Amino acid sequence: MNDAALSLHARADAMEERKARELDYLVVKSHIHSLAEADFSAPPNAGAMLKANPNLRLLMGDDPRLPKMPDKPTLIDFFKLRFGPSAHLLQSARHAVKGGLSEKMVLACLLHDIAGVGFIRGDHGYWGAQLVEPYVDEEVTWAIRAHQVLRFYADPSVGYEYPQSYVTLFGADYEPDAYVAEDYKRMRNHKWYMSGRMITVHDIYSFDPNVHVELEEFTDIIGRNFKQPAEGLGFDNSPVAHMWRAMIRPAKYL
Ligand SMILES: [Fe+2]
Ligand SMILES: [Fe+2]
Repeated sequence: MNDAALSLHARADAMEERKARELDYLVVKSHIHSLAEADFSAPPNAGAMLKANPNLRLLMGDDPRLPKMPDKPTLIDFFKLRFGPSAHLLQSARHAVKGGLSEKMVLACLLHDIAGVGFIRGDHGYWGAQLVEPYVDEEVTWAIRAHQVLRFYADPSVGYEYPQSYVTLFGADYEPDAYVAEDYKRMRNHKWYMSGRMITVHDIYSFDPNVHVELEEFTDIIGRNFKQPAEGLGFDNSPVAHMWRAMIRPAKYL
């Protein structure tokens, strides 16, 4: 980023902060969510620093701050080495097992928020669906995408109410974006509507902190329902390989 762009960026940040104070809302950065504690922004004076220290290099390989990934990483490797806390996903999946859902829907519950624990919050249902699309049944992808939208709409037929937490988090007057409302209309009439809806039913936020679920409980379900590429996630030349690589090396400079 050049100096002019940088100052624009800094000013935008200052404006954002001022706006946040005026409106009294909390800005949560959407990107690199799981690594939010680390500062991955490029040094503002990278050019000058490189001149002053010719041995200095920008990060293009493995990140020494993160655990090393195997050469051919599996979904389970991502859960263990890259994803943020996954208790919510594990508990949702167990809830789905107890609710008698099919194996593929248990997998959908297990994976429904992987974009959020992996690298991005905003539109995480759309991102998550895309991440797994080459490796799971089409219905699983569809349902993960749909949960993003269906979360905002009640369905009394299955006892799903608009989440009280959304009233607290977004305000009582919050209205979903127009594209969400449009998607809802399409999804409501889709043959897989109830599959997407089931994710929201098992998307539980009030869990018992004493209940501990291990990923190993789902090893077989993953094995039977997630087509792990032989080359490893990120290296199979699929249309989403770069997205998995972005989680392997989230701070890669270019
Ligand atoms: Fe979600
Ligand atoms: Fe969730």
